[in-house]
Amino acid sequence: MKYDFDEIIAREGTDAFKLELREFFFGTSDVLPLWVADMDFKAPPAVIKAIRDRAAHEIYGYTIRDDKFTGAIQNWVSKQHDWNIEQSWIKFIPGVLASLVIAINEFTEEGDQVIIQTPVYPPFHSIVKENKRELVKNILTEKDGYYAIDFDLLEKQAANPKAKILILSNPHNPVGRAWNKEELKKMCEICIKYDLLVVSDEIHSDLCLFGHKHLVMADLFPELKDRIITAMAPSKTFNIAGLSTAYAIIEDVNLRKRFEKRLSAYQMYMGNLFGGVALTAAYNEGSDWLDKMKTYLEDNAVFVKDFIEENMPEVGYVLPEATYLLWLDFRKWGVPHDELKKAMIKIGKVGLNDGLSFGEEGEGFQRLNIGSPKVIIKEGMERILKVRKHFLDKQG
Ligand SMILES: Cc1ncc(COP(=O)(O)O)c(C=O)c1O
Repeated sequence: MKYDFDEIIAREGTDAFKLELREFFFGTSDVLPLWVADMDFKAPPAVIKAIRDRAAHEIYGYTIRDDKFTGAIQNWVSKQHDWNIEQSWIKFIPGVLASLVIAINEFTEEGDQVIIQTPVYPPFHSIVKENKRELVKNILTEKDGYYAIDFDLLEKQAANPKAKILILSNPHNPVGRAWNKEELKKMCEICIKYDLLVVSDEIHSDLCLFGHKHLVMADLFPELKDRIITAMAPSKTFNIAGLSTAYAIIEDVNLRKRFEKRLSAYQMYMGNLFGGVALTAAYNEGSDWLDKMKTYLEDNAVFVKDFIEENMPEVGYVLPEATYLLWLDFRKWGVPHDELKKAMIKIGKVGLNDGLSFGEEGEGFQRLNIGSPKVIIKEGMERILKVRKHFLDKQG
């Protein structure tokens, strides 16, 4: 089937976070929104139809998620990631981030340490701090745009008896790495040696690009069984984040029971009727759409790469192994971060995620969302070029 990812769909008037919160985040609505992680593509036709059909019933009462839901997940993770799970391991959660909140509160005490790998998705920082745990930053290393894990540092950090959890972003937002077997193995060994729980956020797992394959940590290393919580969702994959539907997969029964208990204590188990409908349709019938959408994303990523090479070769960039989020390095422009950020908004009128929101390692960086029709991405790059011209002209 053919899908029109080039179609420009107006999102004004739909209460879209990406548009409506521009004033709040950028101080103006006059920026091209290429920031928060949802895409400007329609959901797969099967998802749209399933929601329409369910909406037509006109009664929207409390819902259950039975084996249609868990069965769709079971088949999906088996087909996509060769991971064979039992349906009983699956727990609905209203968002992947809920799994971080639950794990931190259920499995650690106030003042305990939680390790994250920075630069990383901003809520990883805030959730740890807002829940009164100590944030430990296992800063990723970077060479020519390629990020890797500092295992010596990780081992030192894990060895601290106060360290209790490692939160993994796999594939990693924003640096675009899909961690390889060797990397996952080393993390696994460290977590076992120092008795850490792993919360593996695999929300971007279906979005591996350019032949990269996602490796599920819990599947690769059965020895992690009683210390790993994997969180996944159809939200990024099928552009249905507004339906607040995700799930945790936890094999170990004791771990799962504690997770469930906390889910219940937080009254987080009910969720949204349409989310279940959408997940089931997406997983059962959405793989062709996903394959084609990923090809479109690859074309967009290559377009950005070519554009940069041709027009601003000093901007750091590597093709992502996964995600539709590109981590652009503007450090060679030699301008203070604050000026860079302001110029993107005021001169370029382009709304990117500010690098510093991912941690201080993001200084000089901006994150670009390429989940939009090509003409929009082209327009975004032209705007960034305008910012470059502004700075270069100033430098004389
Ligand atoms: C790594 C990562 N985790 C979690 C989320 C948000 O997940 P949810 O909306 O399901 O809580 C995002 C969204 O961009 C993300 O990039």
